[in-house]
Amino acid sequence: MRLLFGLFAFLIILPSGCIDPLIKQVETNDTKYSERFRPQFHFSPKSNWMNDPNGLIFENDRYHLFYQFYPDSTVWGPMHWGHATSEDLTHWTHQPIALYPDSLGYIFSGSAVMDYKNSSGLGSENQPALVAIYTYHNMEYERSGRNDYQTQGIAFSLDHGMTWEKFDGNPVIKNPGIKDFRDPKVFWHEPTQKWILILVAGDHARIYNSKNLIDWTFLSDFGHNEGAHGGVWECPDLFPLTTDQGDQKWVLIISINPGGPQGGSATQYFVGDFDGQKFTTAQKESKWLDFGRDNYAGVTYNDAPEDKRILMGWMSNWDYAQVTPTTNWRSAMTLPRSLELKGSNSDYYLVQNPIIEPSIIARTEEFDVAQVTEGVVLPSSQFQMEFEVDLSEKTVFELANEQDQFVFSIDPTLRQMMVDRRFSGKIEFSDKFAPGQQISAFIPENRAAKVTIFSDASSIEIFVDQGRYVFTNQVFPEQPYSHLRIVSDGVKTDKIIFSELNSIWHEQ
Ligand code: FRU
Repeated sequence: MRLLFGLFAFLIILPSGCIDPLIKQVETNDTKYSERFRPQFHFSPKSNWMNDPNGLIFENDRYHLFYQFYPDSTVWGPMHWGHATSEDLTHWTHQPIALYPDSLGYIFSGSAVMDYKNSSGLGSENQPALVAIYTYHNMEYERSGRNDYQTQGIAFSLDHGMTWEKFDGNPVIKNPGIKDFRDPKVFWHEPTQKWILILVAGDHARIYNSKNLIDWTFLSDFGHNEGAHGGVWECPDLFPLTTDQGDQKWVLIISINPGGPQGGSATQYFVGDFDGQKFTTAQKESKWLDFGRDNYAGVTYNDAPEDKRILMGWMSNWDYAQVTPTTNWRSAMTLPRSLELKGSNSDYYLVQNPIIEPSIIARTEEFDVAQVTEGVVLPSSQFQMEFEVDLSEKTVFELANEQDQFVFSIDPTLRQMMVDRRFSGKIEFSDKFAPGQQISAFIPENRAAKVTIFSDASSIEIFVDQGRYVFTNQVFPEQPYSHLRIVSDGVKTDKIIFSELNSIWHEQ
């Protein structure tokens, strides 16, 4: 049964027999990116299958986004690295495929560094190499029952990622007999003057170092007994962050599939120390990056300006990623988010600040609290919205069209926040998509908290308490959501600020 909050009295019912114009566009394989469910201010591939972000690096004034890509189908297959670039992390330009599978295997996830000092000898000091470090997945080995089918390889580009050459001594790290052995993240470690590589090996992470990106020495491992272990560890990242109190810590990010708190894929993190050899932490409990279901395989940019730590995730979940109801493309990335570390000693935590280039704000409107309590007709379903709530009051936020609704609520009695997408639109493509409510984060204390919500054609990202609690979810409404209601005694701000967002594709 639908929730009580369902239909608003003023909903306009479309005449029956009315043809949905969006369906037509899908059939023509729209090159304007206006197909039904096509994200308008999130990155998605032009067509076909995408998963993890790879090789995130800022160089030559551009943010590179490489990604797991299968150019021949809308489901997972032989992996390539797709490529896009951006100057502002909002507008993206599609680039030619960067890496193709070869005789050593498919090209799985990994990272990229700029070898400015030419430590590898693959470029020169005048023309430094952009070096990609990735996992080779050898299907033949896997099929024949061997367990050493994943190795690490490198490739380099002397023209800022436009063309690539594989290193002829691949693989640079052989498989030690571990089935899941992948997803290397590499960064330069100034104190030891070495490259550090972290990869995952089933239920733990392994750390290596190197002087030249080619010869790697195993240093330590982490995680056999730490954190969540409901699934295989994937896509690690390790980076320093300093709190506003001046504490210098290291954050280790580990994606896990399955075993996420809401089911399927999710990302956990550890806050601790790294001495150039070993990562250690006093953290006892598991910490989760996102309380929604669709933020996976997230990693951060190398060399981002102003020492910023910018994360981007794949906005999907292996529980249903391959059957979502999109047509000629599948999957999108989350909004990029700048990470900060807060808290102290026993309770450090990450906060995420979404990044959008302000020029995509088409116009801003202010709604009264009384108006949104009644319910308002939205000028657009593509928006950013901001308000402040008192966490000691129950708050219910609904987005709806005449038949679907998405509900986010904060319940101080239960001390929980919840997302309900059971009635949000199309859900029947997988019984794992919306089996129940998502019972998410606990509320630590009663006070005012800022809420920022981004709604795109097939996603809703909610940032509560300045990005301390984040809920990233896909939704597939039968029609774009057209109505908003917020029922709460706890809205603190007089006005709810609503900004309609332009499409990053149509603007160009
Ligand atoms: C995570 C992942 C990685 C792997 C890649 C393969 O989503 O499973 O561990 O490298 O996807 O596409």
